[in-house]
Amino acid sequence: MGTKSLCLLIAFVLVAHYIYTPIPENIEERWKLMLISAGFRTVGHVAEIAERLGFMHYMEVLMMITSMEYTAPTSDENITVADIEFNSVPVRLYVPRKQSNVLKRAVIYIHGGGWCVGGSGEKQDILALYRLAPKYHFPVQYEDVYTVVKYFLQNNVLEQYGVDPTRICISGDSAGGNLAASVAQQLLDDLEIKAQLKIQVLLYPALQTLDLDLPSYRDNADKPILPKSLMVRFWSEYFTTDISLNEAMASNRHISEDSSHLFKFVNWSNLLPEKFKEGHVYANPVYGSSKLEKKYPGFLDPRAAPLLVDNVKLQGLPLTYVLTCQHDVLRDDGVMYVSRLREAGVQVIHDHVEDAFHGAIMFITGPVDLLLAHRLANKYIEWLNVNL
Ligand SMILES: *[C@@H]1O[C@H](CO)[C@@H](O)[C@H](O)[C@H]1NC(C)=O
Ligand SMILES: *[C@@H]1O[C@H](CO)[C@@H](O)[C@H](O)[C@H]1NC(C)=O
Repeated sequence: MGTKSLCLLIAFVLVAHYIYTPIPENIEERWKLMLISAGFRTVGHVAEIAERLGFMHYMEVLMMITSMEYTAPTSDENITVADIEFNSVPVRLYVPRKQSNVLKRAVIYIHGGGWCVGGSGEKQDILALYRLAPKYHFPVQYEDVYTVVKYFLQNNVLEQYGVDPTRICISGDSAGGNLAASVAQQLLDDLEIKAQLKIQVLLYPALQTLDLDLPSYRDNADKPILPKSLMVRFWSEYFTTDISLNEAMASNRHISEDSSHLFKFVNWSNLLPEKFKEGHVYANPVYGSSKLEKKYPGFLDPRAAPLLVDNVKLQGLPLTYVLTCQHDVLRDDGVMYVSRLREAGVQVIHDHVEDAFHGAIMFITGPVDLLLAHRLANKYIEWLNVNL
């Protein structure tokens, strides 16, 4: 073997080694997902290097790269798409062209991306775009979304768009599911709003910061495309760019004994069905100092962590659909919310998908689309069609 072919072989092995990630056995189109996963890891590495060298904040690199996916609003023969503002918050509005005598149903969709990235133009009925971290922190993102929803639910606005006030859905994926869940809760106490949500649809939502060492965080710390380290970074960036919060969250010692009373809301020993606990032993929390929660009280605020409200508050929530994925750090957030909602008497449809990973619906379009994404999206839309 010549030097050249040896070098080629070595290069090939290195590239293959880089691309190769163990993909769970039950996931289809493994090679496609491996490539997707390598792409995401590369973006993560670039962001990490740029940040270490002091060029750019980690999230700014992610934002720059993901903004290349931006799609301008594009109308077609069936639908008019427009970028407008509701009370100064940008939204993308999708309105069907077909004239009809019956009032329309509406979906308010809040995009994912860890409160830091995203919102570059997925297809939803109304897509709320909120201001992002690291430039903005909680509660700005929450308040932007709340503003949009509140604006839209006014009678004169619903009338203007021909929307039936009894057939409105709030929905979102990942961080968008977090915002959807918290806005749905907070609306219950807002006396200025007459229209009520008919349903909420939460797709692999993030719902709590209290315990970042749940079985799903342990089992899926390195699964595509949301490793534990990135989810912890998203959470900490939602509240501050101060890296000490990130470090405390990574070791799950960001909560002090002063807040021990909140752990009952996220006690996975009680709230997870047996199959999700398999192989894990529950231990009581290890407390840290109270410095961080005094400085950044946001991470204990139910508007950031909707699992932290009591059952009385949950009781008023509408019919709920929760999608969880087996290979997802956020799996147990969703599963625990299902348990809490059922305990409170809320009607819940829980769709747990064994062969899915976090963010899968994203791959419904684009250079690599996945059968899984189409399957999940079809289920979601069929459910909406029947229940909204
Ligand atoms: C418009 O709707 C019709 C009927 O549902 C469909 O066949 C057609 O493909 C749609 N056009 C586009 C651009 O999606
Ligand atoms: C969680 O639940 C288990 C089982 O009921 C209980 O033993 C434990 O004390 C609880 N921990 C907290 C922090 O509430």
